Amino acid sequence: MIDKIKGHIADVESFNAKTKDEIEAFRIKYLGKKGILNEYFAEFRNVPNEEKKAFGQAINELKTAAQDKVTALKEELENSQEEKGVYGDLSRPGEPVEIGSRHPISIVKNQITEIFSNIGFNVSEGPEMEDDWHNFTALNLPEYHPARDMQDTFFIQTDPDILLRTHTSSVQVRYMEENKPPIRTISPGRVFRNEAISARSHCIFHQVEGLYIDKDVSFADMKQTILYFTKQLFGKSKIRLRPSYFPFTEPSAEVDVYWGLETETDYRITKGTGWLEIMGCGMVDPNVLRNCNIDPQEYSGFAFGMGIERIAMLLYQIEDIRMFYENDIRFLEQFKSAL
Ligand code: PHE
Repeated sequence: MIDKIKGHIADVESFNAKTKDEIEAFRIKYLGKKGILNEYFAEFRNVPNEEKKAFGQAINELKTAAQDKVTALKEELENSQEEKGVYGDLSRPGEPVEIGSRHPISIVKNQITEIFSNIGFNVSEGPEMEDDWHNFTALNLPEYHPARDMQDTFFIQTDPDILLRTHTSSVQVRYMEENKPPIRTISPGRVFRNEAISARSHCIFHQVEGLYIDKDVSFADMKQTILYFTKQLFGKSKIRLRPSYFPFTEPSAEVDVYWGLETETDYRITKGTGWLEIMGCGMVDPNVLRNCNIDPQEYSGFAFGMGIERIAMLLYQIEDIRMFYENDIRFLEQFKSAL
């Protein structure tokens, strides 16, 4: 009898199964109510006393072997199913791939660049750390000129000649030095001014400046170019030019766009006037042309400059300039749909 049980144990240990049903059949065969083990347990009564101990041990051994086998086989089956599960249900919904968003400053910069490139302007760039010549002197702002105070400058401590550019007009100087007219270029970039940070102004911001130089360029050309731009960007077709002052342009003007007074917001942002100031502009001062080796007798041109933050705030109704630099994901995510 004991040998028979040993035979069962060997069978159990060498048993293998691939499916749930096979494992279940095995379990019932050995461990079920009418299974082999219960038969032996029932038999126990009839075993002579002196054999009881050995017999008992043998059936317990068989029971453990059968239980261990069932557990092991089930585990094996589950693991192999998990592996299959990588491609498991091909009809289930795909995992969404999160798309990032462009920063609003980049969006608006690209829009402005596109509008001007459609009428033949190229894009020029220059260094953020500038020398005095390109940021000031060449632009008709000699040393001790009071207009230098208009733009509180960050100097590089060890060298008063080196500074963080206060406008991208410095790029225009570089462009004029290196290229002959006709010139049509816009210069987007980051600029720096030592200003107190508030909801309206920041010490780091972005500009797009434009420059057009050719024979017989007139103030009317400038006005028409700016009008084209405001129509394209804002869909607004009324502008006005107010006299202003910049050292590098003469005459100079400030451009207002007629925003309208249709909503409460319009009233608030235009202070009830309907007009919004969007950029500075003017005819390039002959001194600037001369500083850049362009003959003012032969050529004339216009320049303009605007702050990208200001325009983005208008377009997207952003109330606080600091939002642009805080990289709050909840703010940035709102620009997902814009390109
Ligand atoms: N550079 C001026 C500024 O930073 C803007 C400007 C550019 C004005 C060109 C007139 C002409 O404020």
